Amino acid sequence: MRVDVVTLFPEFVRQCAGFGVVGRAVERGLLELEAWNPRDRAEGGYRRVDDTACGGGPGMVLLIEPLRKTLAAARQAAATPAPVIFLSPQGRRLNQDKVRQLAALPRMILLCGRYEGIDQRLIEHEVDEELSIGDYVLSGGELAAAVVIDAIGRLQEGALGDAESAAQDSFSDGLLDCPHYTRPVVHEFGAVPAVLVSGDHAAIKRWRRQQSLGRTWLRRPELLEPLLLNADDQRLLDEFKLEHKGHPHEQDH
Ligand code: ADE
Repeated sequence: MRVDVVTLFPEFVRQCAGFGVVGRAVERGLLELEAWNPRDRAEGGYRRVDDTACGGGPGMVLLIEPLRKTLAAARQAAATPAPVIFLSPQGRRLNQDKVRQLAALPRMILLCGRYEGIDQRLIEHEVDEELSIGDYVLSGGELAAAVVIDAIGRLQEGALGDAESAAQDSFSDGLLDCPHYTRPVVHEFGAVPAVLVSGDHAAIKRWRRQQSLGRTWLRRPELLEPLLLNADDQRLLDEFKLEHKGHPHEQDH
């Protein structure tokens, strides 16, 4: 897929997408990334991209025209239509379902704000969707854009080495991930759960599923509410709850 990012800090976004799984996806052409700086389309010697807020108050507001021109240039850089997604704490909260939806698009344009915000008229005329990465305020949309790029980049076909890895992620089936262990099996910090070194693949699968269900119940019980558990899952969870009797919804770490 292709992602165009409109940002006053194009280098930041390029760098963020230059490492690990996403860096490899970009290198292999699974993810095409282009960053656009509205300052390049700003007027005057100072190439102004912002001005004081109408009505007064502290902080600067990003001007309509440099952003409008930059969005037009980004749109025209490829034939595929692209929704414009504005990263903002006022947006709909990102989750793995939304990540999956976005990852399946052929293209999108991410718009990053700075300072106090962007002129509301630009948002109303040019933005298709506002997206937040959580209930806290960042100093700009770039980190949020990097989060979106990472989350969708790793879901591009062929980006992850093991085709199974994404299917086993936390949230992929609405549940949190199970714990993971590696060697040494016995360590000062404790031993790896015996089942994982038993060689009994069915038992390992069951244990992992139970840990996933149990952790979700302990840490994020609200995620379980919309899920219709089948009889096997319900039994695994009931068993887990029995083992954790007296510690309902207590963090297990
Ligand atoms: N820009 C500033 N804060 C943000 C947030 N929480 N999510 C997305 N974009 C942002």
